[in-house]
Amino acid sequence: MPKPKVLATRPLFPAAQQILDVSCDTEYWSQPDRISKEELFLRIKDKEGLICLLTERVDADFLRAAPKLRIAANVAVGFDNIDVPVCTRRGVVATNTPGVLDETTADFAWTLVMAVARRLVEGETLARSGSWKGWDLDQLVGTDVYGKTLGIVGFGRIGRAMARRATGFQMKIIYSDAVRAPENVEKELKAEHRDFNSLLAEADFISVHVPLLPETRGLLDGPKFYRMKPTAFLINTSRGSVVDEAALVHALETGKIAGAGLDVYENEPFIHPGLKRPNVVLAPHIASASLETRTKMACMAAENVTALFKGQRPPNMLNPEVLKAG
Ligand code: DGY
Repeated sequence: MPKPKVLATRPLFPAAQQILDVSCDTEYWSQPDRISKEELFLRIKDKEGLICLLTERVDADFLRAAPKLRIAANVAVGFDNIDVPVCTRRGVVATNTPGVLDETTADFAWTLVMAVARRLVEGETLARSGSWKGWDLDQLVGTDVYGKTLGIVGFGRIGRAMARRATGFQMKIIYSDAVRAPENVEKELKAEHRDFNSLLAEADFISVHVPLLPETRGLLDGPKFYRMKPTAFLINTSRGSVVDEAALVHALETGKIAGAGLDVYENEPFIHPGLKRPNVVLAPHIASASLETRTKMACMAAENVTALFKGQRPPNMLNPEVLKAG
């Protein structure tokens, strides 16, 4: 029996390649440049499986070029790059990598909280510059995190992991979410529910943890920044398009908010020049980027693919209905 043909749009970590290579005949795109749309469309033609990144679009166009495709496995928890309904109509299983990156992502969101509040990047730049004149009383004074109010937008796994970190800093924790968390969760995390507008008005740090969906696109728009305290900081490790970037730039320029810590952007890898300000800490979409976590994510994607080809249900299906009829 020939092994099913799979395309991976980049080499995976060895542990993930080992899983995949046992049961699949995998072609890894290993050129230094990312795979182009043309190459992707060409190489997917004879493949039954795809392991892709959040930078590749799995949409109607792509699926037209992939007549044999049975599974598209994203190496990410966010799957706004995959048109799941179109996959479902075509009978293609779509999968993601939930759970394994929660703590690592929350660690990094917390890093951004601390870095922007305590002006770490400005301090680091000064320390390296050779022009530091020594300790001074009001030098690079920042904002305390300890004891402040953290507003968590989206109280899923990563939002709750943020809440756990905030308890160590004796913060008041408020959250907004379309679905209110069970009472025992609120109690355990000492988190209070707020409607979104109240959260914006009350929080000192607002950390965004919602997926990008039609209803969350541009969730933080111009009027929302007017509701925030002028001393508040926005932290975003979810998806850039949840924030209206031009409105954020305006809010920063006009002092509507105090600063931001950003890992994600509307049109990656483009970063709006107006965000390149001292009171904004910028990172290149690396919140889940620890070796342990990225390895787990790649292994999870590989396991999703191999499960399907072994006749099992992939553990992280986004469209389980595809396999129901079969
Ligand atoms: C995801 O998984 O959605 C992140 O953005 C990358 O880890």
